[in-house]
Amino acid sequence: MAVHVNRVALIGTGFVGSSYAFALLNQGVTEELVLIDLNKEKSEGDAMDLNHGLAFAPTRTKIWYGEYEDCKNADVVVLCAGANQKPGETRLDLVAKNLKIFKSIVDRVMVSGFDGIFIVATNPVDILSYAVWKYSGLHHSRVIGSGTILDTARFRYLLGEHFGVDTRNVHAYIIGEHGDTELPVWSHADIGGSPILDSVASDKDKLEEIFVNVRDAAYQIINRKGATYYGIAMGLVRLTKAILHNESSILTVSCYLNGEYDQRDVFIGVPAVVGSDGIKKVVELKLNEMENQQFAHSANVLKETMKPFFK
Ligand code: LAC
Repeated sequence: MAVHVNRVALIGTGFVGSSYAFALLNQGVTEELVLIDLNKEKSEGDAMDLNHGLAFAPTRTKIWYGEYEDCKNADVVVLCAGANQKPGETRLDLVAKNLKIFKSIVDRVMVSGFDGIFIVATNPVDILSYAVWKYSGLHHSRVIGSGTILDTARFRYLLGEHFGVDTRNVHAYIIGEHGDTELPVWSHADIGGSPILDSVASDKDKLEEIFVNVRDAAYQIINRKGATYYGIAMGLVRLTKAILHNESSILTVSCYLNGEYDQRDVFIGVPAVVGSDGIKKVVELKLNEMENQQFAHSANVLKETMKPFFK
């Protein structure tokens, strides 16, 4: 019986894509990684550069610069291609430009016979995840946007710093648009099982400041270094690992809602169980009244932005 070899196809080897490839190699997540990009020279150079580090990697990963045909046997296709935010731009400002790029990319992936899971990283990630679902014709569970996976990590990091605990012991979610309308789920935030809002150290102004720093983190980083890529790359590796290793992990990703949270026909960041078949289940948190209003607003902003592009 043939042994299955995990293959990831990465489309777009810019800052985010190449950081993702580097993190994937260093965490030994997949056996095969094929790099695809319009800029053949750059991707070939990335493949060579990564292969030269193989001696130091935890496991063997076969890495090469390839073509869309190589997506046929991929378990996961990761979409990092497209324009990224420039200083002063919101993620939603990128929608028209990146939708056009995505139509041709997804068509070429599907022509290869790809029958796996799409991971979408390019912004606006919620709308582009919806587009990949529409363009690919795959079941919506097989399209997963990075969503608020990074926002949640930022939130847990800053809360951990504030309360002086390991970020891995902070359980708190950011949900909604990966963008300006995202929201913190304080009603379900705890540290080691102890609700944060009940904590005496919970100064409401400080907690609000922490959330604002999470929501605006990308702007703060872009203003300093021109782009963000390390945090999102590691979030994409975490998501890839949950799929390839069938972990059934709960991650806040952009997935399709079909009635959950009283929303339909939208991709948006919520906690979901992720495994080898993609989205196994949406985790429906019992939000309080304010969180419900904020979430509905976030979903409506996405739907209104999408409307002109998906008649
Ligand atoms: C950020 C990009 C990935 O939030 O949107 O850093």
